[in-house]
Amino acid sequence: MKWVLLLSLIYYLSDVEGLKVLVCYPLPMKSISILGQAAVRHLIEAGHDVTYITVYPLNIKAKNLRQIDISSNTALLANDETMTMGYFLHNKLERNHPYQLQKIALEAARMTLNHENVKKLLEDPNERFDVIIADLIESEVYAGFSVLYNCPMVWLYSMGAHWQVLRLIDVASNPAYDPDYLSPNMPPFTFAQRVEELWSRIYWQYLKTFYTQPEERKIYEAVFGPLVAKRGRTLPDYEDVIFNASLILANEHDATLNRASTPQNFKYIGGCHIEEPVKPLPKDLQDLIDNSKNGVIYFSMGSVLQSKSLPKELVTELLQMFGEFKQTVIWKFEDNSLVNVPKNVRIVNWAPQQSILAHPNVRMFISHGGQLSSLETIHFGKPIIGVPVFFDQYTNIYKAVQNGYALKVPFSQNLPKDLKPAINLMLTDDRYANKAKELSALYHDRLTAPGAVFLHWVEYVVRTRGAHHLRSPARHVPLYQRLYLDLIALILTIVSVLIYILSKICKKKHVKRNDQKKRN
Ligand SMILES: *[C@@H]1O[C@H](CO)[C@@H](O)[C@H](O)[C@H]1NC(C)=O
Repeated sequence: MKWVLLLSLIYYLSDVEGLKVLVCYPLPMKSISILGQAAVRHLIEAGHDVTYITVYPLNIKAKNLRQIDISSNTALLANDETMTMGYFLHNKLERNHPYQLQKIALEAARMTLNHENVKKLLEDPNERFDVIIADLIESEVYAGFSVLYNCPMVWLYSMGAHWQVLRLIDVASNPAYDPDYLSPNMPPFTFAQRVEELWSRIYWQYLKTFYTQPEERKIYEAVFGPLVAKRGRTLPDYEDVIFNASLILANEHDATLNRASTPQNFKYIGGCHIEEPVKPLPKDLQDLIDNSKNGVIYFSMGSVLQSKSLPKELVTELLQMFGEFKQTVIWKFEDNSLVNVPKNVRIVNWAPQQSILAHPNVRMFISHGGQLSSLETIHFGKPIIGVPVFFDQYTNIYKAVQNGYALKVPFSQNLPKDLKPAINLMLTDDRYANKAKELSALYHDRLTAPGAVFLHWVEYVVRTRGAHHLRSPARHVPLYQRLYLDLIALILTIVSVLIYILSKICKKKHVKRNDQKKRN
């Protein structure tokens, strides 16, 4: 009896502890890869064996971490002018074209799966994994890994519950109240906005169905077909594979207003990238913030948008404007060539953002509104002045405004003039800071920290061999059945047949009567 117990204990421990996990983060966008890094960190700390396909290899030496370097993927966006602040400023754009994003994800997939380092991994016939975790932005090709290794698939999604991803495990949420992630609209919608949301879905789906997905299918078949055949199996159809994930783990949390409802296998892990306790600040920043009696304004536009792509005059005007405040301003700017920097402004090339936001003297965060930055402001309870530029930043900032802890300032040549009254308002009106604290309390009011939630569900999926019991029955019901279009068609047919028959009968009677009249 003791032996049985001991053996089952060993089996149980070995089943969960030494998982072999493949984590794939193919996009050459630093901020998106931060979530992948967090996943890797939690997995290796829990003792799992991680293979990490990454554009930004980590500076960690751990026995249980193997990194597959695909940093050459950066070439994809290196010369892409359309991803700079200057471009968006010049063209007065308010949102990305959906095809642009689908195409970036598609090309990143092509580069990744044909990368020699990845090929080496895939072609090793002895390689096996217990679970695949991959980034889910605009491409599902990586589901091919789960076919090759015959193991469950977990998507890690860097945003909240959006229809583009919900449709993969359940049904797309309703556009009448759930906006697209590129949309500036917030529910409740006006009639025009509701139509706009419906249209952007139809358009996205059209592009996906006729342009991107056929290309993805080709990549899937070309890359995984021969590999799966070598392992003695046949490749399942692409559409059967991409709708077969066990879980989606999303980078969002319960303190956010207006979230679409989600199926059982959709879990929130937002905040799992935040390290607790936060790392201590470097000495100079610690002293600077400690000694700022009037508080600190922290300004950063994230890692994708480089401040140095801003026009020179705009930078000069921003510096002047910041110089008029009593507060200390910490500006993350990746360039040391600035001149005439006012005394109260500190330029840093790199900012330990979480440690800065954690400091009680920091009064507000002027941000582009990337999802990770938005999560950090809630985590640390700081109000935000949002200057969204592209991608999901508009949605994030509109949400924050609707939640009551943010102001939005348009990204334009007038930024310095528009920013000043917003900063003044935030300094004098406590409502924003109080709301941020209130939401932060809501966010922290939970049973488990997000990192532990992440680990639990990944291990759970392996233990339950794909968590089939969590899957939504809606996946197998086509749209026409969900909308009962077949029933409507049947009723319409019966009604029209009846009308036809009745009209025939009436005509006959009519003709007879007429004949009788004539005879009479
Ligand atoms: C779907 O996933 C399950 C386990 O996660 C697996 O057993 C099954 O073979 C997969 N189906 C296809 C078509 O890949």
